[in-house]
Amino acid sequence: MQANWAALEQAVAHCARCRLSASRTCPVLGEGSQKSGVLFVGEGPGREEDLCGRPFVGAAGQLLDKMLAAIHLKREDVYIANVVKCRPPGNRTPAPDEAAACLPYLRQQFVLLRPRVIVCLGATAGRAICGESLRITRDRGVWRQQKGVWVLPTYHPAALLRDPAKKREAWEDLQSLEQKLRELEEKPL
Ligand code: URA
Repeated sequence: MQANWAALEQAVAHCARCRLSASRTCPVLGEGSQKSGVLFVGEGPGREEDLCGRPFVGAAGQLLDKMLAAIHLKREDVYIANVVKCRPPGNRTPAPDEAAACLPYLRQQFVLLRPRVIVCLGATAGRAICGESLRITRDRGVWRQQKGVWVLPTYHPAALLRDPAKKREAWEDLQSLEQKLRELEEKPL
């Protein structure tokens, strides 16, 4: 257990808990506001993210920035992380044992961030956070509360790039997120 961000960053920088560490260039812990209370979780770094050590900087990241802008947020206003911190070769889906090996780092991020809202981008994040029975096409857009935290599964931006027909539902999810953030603002902790 890492008690602070610096210790967590060090642990991830030197991590060799799974095979993904052997092929990574840079691990990607995450970035953004450590105080906003809003956490977005993706799947894992892609090629661009692996090269620079930052999350969501490639095509999917550019779409994520636009999605945030549509609800008047910037990436600096939220925290962005992934289920796995190292790039799966060829951008394949992380294997269950890789996700499991990396999950303690995401858990530690929850502890340090204490988010009020978590947005799961895609099935990998949704399953890691909500449980293996999650089906993204069925469960997206439906809020659930887990240990006092509001959780919203929605499509991964890469899925929206592959299938623009999903954008209408993704837009509904974003509006629902904006509404939830407004409600929470009216109800300070
Ligand atoms: N896709 C993800 O899930 N995470 C990233 O950081 C980039 C692309």
